[in-house]
Amino acid sequence: MAIISLINRKGGVGKSTISVNLAAGLATYESRKPGSKPVLLIDMDDQLSATITAMGGGFDDKFVPIITAETNYAKSLANGYSASESLIVDSLLPRDRREKVKIFRTNKAHMDGLEAALKEREEPAFQLTYFLEPIKNDFSYIIIDNPPSAGMLPMNSLVASTHVLIPIEPDGLSLIGLADILRMVENVRKTTNPGLEVLGIIPSRFRMVRRQSRDVIDDMERMYGHLLLPYVKDLAEISAATTAGYDVFSYCPEKSQAYRCLSNLVDAVLGKLGG
Ligand SMILES: Nc1ncnc2c1ncn2[C@@H]1O[C@H](COP(=O)(O)OP(=O)(O)OP(=O)(O)O)[C@@H](O)[C@H]1O
Ligand SMILES: [Mg+2]
Repeated sequence: MAIISLINRKGGVGKSTISVNLAAGLATYESRKPGSKPVLLIDMDDQLSATITAMGGGFDDKFVPIITAETNYAKSLANGYSASESLIVDSLLPRDRREKVKIFRTNKAHMDGLEAALKEREEPAFQLTYFLEPIKNDFSYIIIDNPPSAGMLPMNSLVASTHVLIPIEPDGLSLIGLADILRMVENVRKTTNPGLEVLGIIPSRFRMVRRQSRDVIDDMERMYGHLLLPYVKDLAEISAATTAGYDVFSYCPEKSQAYRCLSNLVDAVLGKLGG
């Protein structure tokens, strides 16, 4: 069992896109094994991007009840309850597989108040850890998509996680941002979660044609080479799949660049996890 957080305080770097596709890719990998367990995708962001894609991009009949549920995980988490089966549903991903990625019933209104509610509780940073305790072993992998912040929500995710993945859009400022995140992880490791491991850095939305992107990747290789995972190119098919409510593996042909990029990434993550 691994709990993997996708973290970057910068917006739009591909956290949600990678979360969704990693969850779908790992679910497919797991479904080929005997006695496999499902994958759970947790959406800690009140924008609900990962949930929206996982529920068909907003076009499916099942969509609205899942994001307006009266009994939902944000409310349970805010109230200090534990997670239970009744909060978990099948998403629509991977579209072409029977074994679906699981997600929590959620509610936009309760998600909006979650950060403030957690801060009111004793041990605010541990709430997600306690919440997941009774169910975590029911899953092979738990993927946590996070909001673009360094606040209490990602802090809860880091404390609850075994591993962190950091998507980075390679530009001039991303190395500074990266150093910030690594410091945040180091701080969590020292204070609350000594087992937390940086699984890797993912150069994301990578445009080969941009000189600056290549320079930044060179710098990253020099400074963090052992942590660099295969990069995800900036490809129209990737955003088209996400918008349509599909994972890339169900939307794009196996020979497409998008499919190959993301399956390389899933393979590399599995390799690093020893799977
Ligand atoms: N590899 C890619 N190629 C093309 N478009 C991409 C790629 N990755 C992400 N996008 C697009 O970029 C936008 C931002 O991506 P995404 O939502 O995954 O980022 P994020 O880091 O989760 O953003 P936020 O911080 O706001 O949650 C989306 O419209 C998405 O479709
Ligand atoms: Mg996001």
